[in-house]
Amino acid sequence: MSDTDMHLAGPTEETAPASRPILHYTARNTWLNDPNGLVFHQGVYHLFYQNNPLDNVWGNMSWGHATSEDLLHWTEHPVAIACDQHEDVFSGSVVVDEGNTTGFGTAENPALVAIYTSAFKEGAGLEGIQAQSLAFSTDAGMTWSKYAGNPVLNRGSAHFRDPKVFRHEGDAGSYWVMVAVEAQHQQVVLYRSADLKDWQYLSTFGPANATGGEWECPDLFPLPVDGNPDHIKWILVVNINPGAVAGGSGGQYFVGHFDGVQFTADTDSLVAGEDGPTDLRQCLWLDWGRDYYAAVSFSNVPDNRRIMIGWMNNWDYANSLPTSPWRSSMSLARELELVTINGLPRLVQLPVLSAGPGRPLRTLTDVELHDATVTLPDADPDSMQVIDAEIVPGASRTVALKLLAAAGDGPATVLRFDAATSTLTLDRRNSGNTAFHEKFASAESAAVALEDGVLKLRVIIDHGSVEVFAQGGKVTLTDLVFPSPGSVGTELSVKGGAATVRKLTVSALS
Ligand code: FRU
Repeated sequence: MSDTDMHLAGPTEETAPASRPILHYTARNTWLNDPNGLVFHQGVYHLFYQNNPLDNVWGNMSWGHATSEDLLHWTEHPVAIACDQHEDVFSGSVVVDEGNTTGFGTAENPALVAIYTSAFKEGAGLEGIQAQSLAFSTDAGMTWSKYAGNPVLNRGSAHFRDPKVFRHEGDAGSYWVMVAVEAQHQQVVLYRSADLKDWQYLSTFGPANATGGEWECPDLFPLPVDGNPDHIKWILVVNINPGAVAGGSGGQYFVGHFDGVQFTADTDSLVAGEDGPTDLRQCLWLDWGRDYYAAVSFSNVPDNRRIMIGWMNNWDYANSLPTSPWRSSMSLARELELVTINGLPRLVQLPVLSAGPGRPLRTLTDVELHDATVTLPDADPDSMQVIDAEIVPGASRTVALKLLAAAGDGPATVLRFDAATSTLTLDRRNSGNTAFHEKFASAESAAVALEDGVLKLRVIIDHGSVEVFAQGGKVTLTDLVFPSPGSVGTELSVKGGAATVRKLTVSALS
């Protein structure tokens, strides 16, 4: 078999079945990165994604495709938009062209239109350029054709990418708006169009806040503050790599105003100072862990719900994850809301578990623990584990959940609340296999304010990952972990005083 044949066949042997997540999307036997073209259409959620159809490392970038009706159970489909001899197909978005503005569909059967970045290859004429292109589908996303007039927007830049397009209805009329990045200038650039083919420049945002890496995969959308439809704010999401708060890749956001032309950040979401933030913790982050990147939201979800998926990985070590034949997974879908926290509108995020947290395995109610440990149900190899807890840390020094623990004092992932600093730390330094990359072993912390003395947690464990949603989603922490097979122990322990578990439920979902 030649090298090429080998790659075409793709790796087939499953060497680490234990760490494939149950409900987080993975491609069957290939590589994936950013979620692309997230769109809800005719009752189906479409997840397109950066995919190497021929291997399980980054390369041959194309759009893979999966669909789901509940955002938890996904079905993989054939590659939707493939790279060719001229271009790699980088990240972008999908819109439903309701008004048939492109002429790709009909009024009765509007086309799905993908706006993606063509990363032009040697010999393509536009070698080294990144420009925006279109592809369309008239069979509800199952097959795609590239538009003959590509690219549709070329600035002659080598780092202009990741277009997110939405329909804007405003005072100046109704038109398509594209937000994309000039990645190396830490800028988001906005364009408008009547037909997705011909684009006019609107404005530029940035550099601002975290600027220690390339800006990638932006998103811009409105949300009501505290559910009030008369009080709308706009959120600009800017993913950054490296230079995120936990190191490497991550997503920051700005709260502000969009007038159809320009996004203006509220001063309270901008960190003051001419040279940018001295402390990245002052910026607004979608997640405080290491593994939530390239997060963007779905188009077209009914009832103005804003649902987002991130790539659960970090470019620091992405290509080295010890899994096979697949590599990399998506986060769970998260529903976003904007709520007033300490007088300021801030995002809260909770995982979409439409039918609830699953089958309850154990519930504790009103248990006081004084320097004590409670053993909770083991993680079940065939389920995702959901832990919901309301704990009053009281006079204790630490309250900790030991997750995916090996027997005895063996390796475990630890989620710990420290009362003295009011911080929540997700510690994977001794979580199992951390040696595959020097940057992997880490502990991430975020400030968490108790509310009426209560720490509220939803923790989701799905084999190779831990996602933490604290205080109803005001703070989230997402980390990958690679415990050794059989590390399934779960434990709650309280140290340095007494804490009260008001309620804790461990559930299994599959
Ligand atoms: C982000 C990113 C994007 C680019 C894609 C290429 O992870 O670097 O900016 O479009 O991945 O796969």
